[in-house]
Amino acid sequence: MDIQETIAAKRDDEELDRGQIREFVLSYVQGEVDDEQMAAFLMAGYLQGFSEEETDELTKAMLASGESLDLSLLSGPTVDKHSTGGVSDGTTLVVAPLAAELGMQIVKLSGRGLGHTGGTLDKLESIPGMRTDLSAQEMLSQVEEIGLCVCAQSGDLVPADRMMYALRDATATVGSIPLIASSVMSKKLAGGAEAILLDVKVGSGAFMKTPAEARELAAACVAIGERAGRATGALISDMSQPLGEMVGNAIEVREAIEVLRGERRGRLREQSLNLVAYLALLSGRAEDLDAAREVAERALDSGKGLERFGRFVEAQGGDPRVSEDLGLLPEAKVTREIEAAEDGWLSATDAEALGAAAARLGAGREKKEDEIDPAVGFELRLKLGQEAEKGAAIGTVFAASEDDAGRAAEQVLAALEFSADGGEEPQLVVDVVGFDERGGSPSR
Ligand code: URA
Repeated sequence: MDIQETIAAKRDDEELDRGQIREFVLSYVQGEVDDEQMAAFLMAGYLQGFSEEETDELTKAMLASGESLDLSLLSGPTVDKHSTGGVSDGTTLVVAPLAAELGMQIVKLSGRGLGHTGGTLDKLESIPGMRTDLSAQEMLSQVEEIGLCVCAQSGDLVPADRMMYALRDATATVGSIPLIASSVMSKKLAGGAEAILLDVKVGSGAFMKTPAEARELAAACVAIGERAGRATGALISDMSQPLGEMVGNAIEVREAIEVLRGERRGRLREQSLNLVAYLALLSGRAEDLDAAREVAERALDSGKGLERFGRFVEAQGGDPRVSEDLGLLPEAKVTREIEAAEDGWLSATDAEALGAAAARLGAGREKKEDEIDPAVGFELRLKLGQEAEKGAAIGTVFAASEDDAGRAAEQVLAALEFSADGGEEPQLVVDVVGFDERGGSPSR
């Protein structure tokens, strides 16, 4: 292969053929294409774009760079769900046990928080004893037995994505729809599930800031999944404010358990039920969306989801008593109320700034190597479209020191905009992609 020829062809907007993309990516992983050359290729692709065929080939090449999970020995149906990243998105903790309760098998490979977005593994590891580094054999036997596992992706899965993502991060080439779609879908295809549901976030706390961009990303991901023979669909969901009320790690686990106990209503519960219902449709466990929602709600309200969560925690070495005793979760030294600075309706939030405020408290990391503090974060109880009076307690900061708590309360308030003339709560599911022939339509 002539490395420069491939880079020049992308630079000059020529269509690359299958072999060219595959060889370029695999040679990069083997060290024959160096970082400068891959960076130039990514920038050329960022500027010129990739056709559907090229995006498919890129995905397949990344997939071929490592191992894949073989779920064919599981009794199935196997499902996976993936959120493109947001703030206070603890849905996996609610969705995975409910999906298992509905007869699906879910092998969920999750990530850690980075920047303003939280990560499921960090949240789970705030449960005493919880392990997330399962071997492939452990994952499969656990899923066959209890229907779910949530664990870290091994380094052998899609190494090309890991290497290319680090370069994209350093060269301002993350924000390209074909590059994001191939990155996400190479990992989902390697995860091996028959049905894949994407939760593409849109708004101030998401990668995609407009519904048009989010639709484009969702359509690109669904097309890749379908062409690879997996039942694939996507929800486009609001992230113009944090999804739940808690932003942190242990406190998000607490919120998820309260949802599973039936004690907490609101957007985390709603979105979790939506995701379970759409997973049931994709995997053929339900015929239409209403029936799917109904069974999902029944699994939650009956307490069966909570019971399944306890079995999952126990299977991964955690203390299952956490479902009953939230006091087992790490608690912050300092708590401080957040008081509304003015009268009015909450009209906008900078969700990215809210996520960053939690990260600065120690709940997240700027660099991959940073340590996190599982106990810290904040609760923001006021949602868009709701009214508050000046001085009313609209949230609580959980911090390691008084100084941190004061700073975080200011940062949270700075990320909120109030208006004098009312407001509306945004729709949770903005659109769906890939459900035309599966009986799904936007729910709420
Ligand atoms: N998440 C991913 O997995 N890949 C991207 O490129 C962006 C977000």
